[in-house]
Amino acid sequence: MKTLLINIKELLQVRDTPIDKVSGAAMSKLPTIENAFLLIEDNLISDFGKMEDMPQLPEAQIIDATGKTVLPAWCDSHTHIVYAGNRVQEFVDRINGLSYEEIANRGGGILNSAKKLNETSEEEIYQQSKQRLEEVMKQGSGAVEIKSGYGLTVEGELKMLRVIKKLKENYPVAIKSTFLGAHAFPTEYKENHSGYIDVIVNEMLPKIAAENLADYIDAFLETGYFSIEETERIMEAGKKYGLPAKIHVNQFTAINGIEACVKHKALSVDHLEIVTDEDIEILKNSDTMPVALPSCSYFISIPYTPARKMIEAGLPLALATDFNPGTTPSGNMNFVVATACIKMKMTPEEAINAATINGAYAMGLSETHGSITKGKRANLIITKPITSFYQLPYAFGTNLIDQVIIEGKLV
Ligand code: NIG
Ligand code: FE
Repeated sequence: MKTLLINIKELLQVRDTPIDKVSGAAMSKLPTIENAFLLIEDNLISDFGKMEDMPQLPEAQIIDATGKTVLPAWCDSHTHIVYAGNRVQEFVDRINGLSYEEIANRGGGILNSAKKLNETSEEEIYQQSKQRLEEVMKQGSGAVEIKSGYGLTVEGELKMLRVIKKLKENYPVAIKSTFLGAHAFPTEYKENHSGYIDVIVNEMLPKIAAENLADYIDAFLETGYFSIEETERIMEAGKKYGLPAKIHVNQFTAINGIEACVKHKALSVDHLEIVTDEDIEILKNSDTMPVALPSCSYFISIPYTPARKMIEAGLPLALATDFNPGTTPSGNMNFVVATACIKMKMTPEEAINAATINGAYAMGLSETHGSITKGKRANLIITKPITSFYQLPYAFGTNLIDQVIIEGKLV
């Protein structure tokens, strides 16, 4: 099947020569073609260029994009879309003055979601999660990473990962699955950290590997959660099963966790609200992608990742939502891109690079996703008529998406 997009006002993120990521000053360049066409054959981008060079294809289905901008669908490399219920009460408790930490210390937070998840059936969790996935697809996400981490028991973690597997099977969006058994210590292991890590390493991981349920491994490396040494044990165990690491780190405190992640060749380090000069130096000599989650900073009022400092140091940066019930009950990548521009002073070009090709890199998908390149998946956002793509972050509360195409088909 052929679909031809014609009269595209501006085609964004055009990369004739495939790239895997963009770093530093190169992030400010977003190559585009004005007055463009784009040809989709089956699920792939097969051709694109200026309108005057468009091939004659009478058999193709035509989409007229006059006045509209077309860009690659968002690549959201960090989410916790699979969860049960919500944490609305904690939201109100925080408005009334409690901190995220205080709520967690009295049994709320991640443990609250874990309790709900373990009480909810796999089918019910699937039903709740699929609604969120359908919502983010409409908001332009074409590739999504999803983590476990609200089970914290063998059965609960397997249940979450099986839901992710089912979403992978039933939806066209590319999904990568990350095992986050090391999200928090269950109450019964509060004083026995090594006991819980034994469960992760000796019970959870072998079962997950046997059912082929995960692509990556994650841990919450943070003061009061998993220490550097504990996270290293998790990363090493993951490596034995071929699971590269993507680690939650530097959300509240900087404790040299990034160094350990880079040493273990983590694919990404995520959050980074607190970043030291030493952390930046260490990231410079690595292939590890830093990932910022500005909606989390917004929602729980913590600092934003120092994007300017990192990009000016020559680093790449990816943007993701962190969609989860506690710190970011939103999977809207349009809001993430706008907030990165408004609050982190990223330019629209940098933010779009961060939310497409660099996001794809952060989930091992940059060969197939994240840019307009021949042979890549036809995952596209068609905007409403806009004057310039700067309008996307500028009109931050307006839905400017007209249509979304995933794997060559309209969502
Ligand atoms: O990425 N920081 C750790 N994990 C999640 C939040 C977990 C929760 O509160 O449910 C995050 O922000
Ligand atoms: Fe997260």
